[in-house]
Amino acid sequence: MNQYDLNQNYILPLPEPEHEIALETKNLEVFYGAKQAFFAGNLKFERYKITSLIGASGCGKSTYLRSLNRMNDGIGTVKGQILYRDLDINGPDINVYELRKHIGMVFQRPNPFSKSIKENITFALKENGLKDKEKLAEIVEESLKKAALWDEVKDDLNKSALALSGG
Ligand SMILES: Nc1ncnc2c1ncn2[C@@H]1O[C@H](COP(=O)(O)OP(=O)(O)O)[C@@H](O)[C@H]1O
Ligand SMILES: [Mg+2]
Repeated sequence: MNQYDLNQNYILPLPEPEHEIALETKNLEVFYGAKQAFFAGNLKFERYKITSLIGASGCGKSTYLRSLNRMNDGIGTVKGQILYRDLDINGPDINVYELRKHIGMVFQRPNPFSKSIKENITFALKENGLKDKEKLAEIVEESLKKAALWDEVKDDLNKSALALSGG
């Protein structure tokens, strides 16, 4: 288990990016038990670019992606290196909670909390100490507008987010 106190704000010891590579994997292999699920991934991801990974079902795309913010911890074992701005993300000093503020994932299947639409949006902000109701309401509106959902849900902010359609 991670030994960090979640109420503390740790900072990743991040070097300033010196080059255009945000994330790089070197000789990456991932195993589930004895089964190797991902083979030798030497890939570089450039900053401010969109990179697609394409491959047959079961070839290891999701396994690879989950390794990039350590979501395979406790499920699979990783060999090789994953460097985020030259920092080895599997190194001994890495706080995975901080790491995941830098490297996030959006999955094809949405996963709202079993709370209202409004609370789903404000959850993390409140956890981080934002209490100003007006400010929170502003952020809810702004976020839903950015996601082109405001007109559809503005009268249902207190209804369960589980009722939203997948799209
Ligand atoms: N949690 C797991 N435990 C054991 N094997 C797994 C697990 N997750 C995926 N696999 C296996 O690892 C291989 C790669 O799977 P996955 O990364 O999901 O591929 P993709 O996303 O490219 O379809 C597959 O053979 C799959 O069955
Ligand atoms: Mg997949």
